[in-house]
Amino acid sequence: MRVITTIKEMQNEVLKHKRLGQSIGFVPTMGFLHEGHLTLISKARKENDIVVLSIFVNPLQFGPKEDFSTYPRDFDRDCALAEGEKVDYLFYPSVDEMYPQGPSVKVVVQERTDVLCGKSRPGHFDGVATVITKLFHIISPEKAYFGKKDAQQVAVIEGLITDFNFPIQLIPVDIVREEDGLAKSSRNVNLSPEERKQAPVIYRSLENAKRAINDGENNPVVLTSLIKEMITGESNGQIDYVEILSYPQLRPLEKIDGSFIIAIAVKFSKVRLIDNIIIQ
Ligand code: PAF
Repeated sequence: MRVITTIKEMQNEVLKHKRLGQSIGFVPTMGFLHEGHLTLISKARKENDIVVLSIFVNPLQFGPKEDFSTYPRDFDRDCALAEGEKVDYLFYPSVDEMYPQGPSVKVVVQERTDVLCGKSRPGHFDGVATVITKLFHIISPEKAYFGKKDAQQVAVIEGLITDFNFPIQLIPVDIVREEDGLAKSSRNVNLSPEERKQAPVIYRSLENAKRAINDGENNPVVLTSLIKEMITGESNGQIDYVEILSYPQLRPLEKIDGSFIIAIAVKFSKVRLIDNIIIQ
């Protein structure tokens, strides 16, 4: 595996492989890799000649009061994990390399951002779309892999690919969970031991809602109340949102129908966790 820190060198390497007719699979991350990321990488490994992993904690997608400075980082461990998954290139640029003039131009996402995380994180998806646009230009992959845990991000990137005509196939990959159901996340390390015990209630509440739907409940208001009651009853987490929306359009639903997402965000003392289920 080669670690590359400059855009120029990354683009040159990509060009060499393109000339040889080799396909490129891309896994963008902010590092502190966990099993969820490794699942994305191993899928990319199976489906492409060359795998590029990027690690870049993108300041543009963090609000002023968010956890940019405390976002977990461990480059050596990430390198070892990426080597283990047979990544070909690890693109690891600095903030100056990515934004040498500050972000002088940014991508503004117009739709699907006034709900879920977009509501409480203004500008977050503009930051994501801006960095992904840059990374897509630098790496020019045929396929890009994103975890469904960030389902709103998947929907926004799908819109970005369509609107900006990127010749890239987005591959959404299922959520990887701990044994107790907690969705894997780099941020889980910031849960206290007590919170770690409580956090799986988020997934249990989703499963409970799914059961209620299977038993015939189709009112989103009833379902969100069920979820909220369970989370507040079994944890000290503060609910940021519980929403049921059409997917991938992310529009409110009067009653459960078609393809939809049940998405949750819960704030614990040092970390905000998200989870969801998408039901077709
Ligand atoms: O999901 C993430 O880790 C980030 O939002 C991404 C896609 C790498 C963009 O910075």
